[in-house]
Amino acid sequence: MNSSFLAVLVAGALLLQTVPLSWGASQEILRPRVPRDQIDAARAVTNPLPASDEMIASGKALFEGKAFCKACHGADGKGLGGDIAPGSLKGPLPRNFTDRAWQAARTDGELFWILKNGSKGTAMAPFIPLVLTEEEAWQVLLYVRSFGRP
Ligand code: HEC
Repeated sequence: MNSSFLAVLVAGALLLQTVPLSWGASQEILRPRVPRDQIDAARAVTNPLPASDEMIASGKALFEGKAFCKACHGADGKGLGGDIAPGSLKGPLPRNFTDRAWQAARTDGELFWILKNGSKGTAMAPFIPLVLTEEEAWQVLLYVRSFGRP
């Protein structure tokens, strides 16, 4: 192996390592929220409801109504809504639901786990069972998923 070929290999390896670092912000968003010892069980859970127009409409009504998801996630699902000033939330900002990479990184079961347990150290609180029944939570998640479609 000649030395210039080796140099190309080394440069390639370095590039592979630095690319994920330059994506630091999105890496943090994609980091699983469910603790490692619970994630397999969480991922095994699937949405029992069909993604019908009716179910998505029920989810939208909950998202914008009694479950007040809209206050932090915005009616457009992109993050902070007009109701909460940036900086008034402690910890990480609400998720942008239109982010396709984030949508692809999460299973329905992980999102359901978040609605049950919240996301520790952030403003994302548990909503089941105090605000949402499990069935309502699945409807809201169908709506959350609909933000990820083109
Ligand atoms: C008080 C503000 C607030 C409200 C209200 C709120 N959220 Fe969140 N939500 C957040 C924040 C902040 C995060 C980011 C948490 C993190 O980075 O771990 C988040 C994250 C999430 C996530 C992504 C978790 C992940 O795995 O990346 C989902 C799904 C979610 N919220 C759904 C909802 C739904 C559905 C509702 C309504 C039932 C709701 N949220 C209401 C603040 C809020």
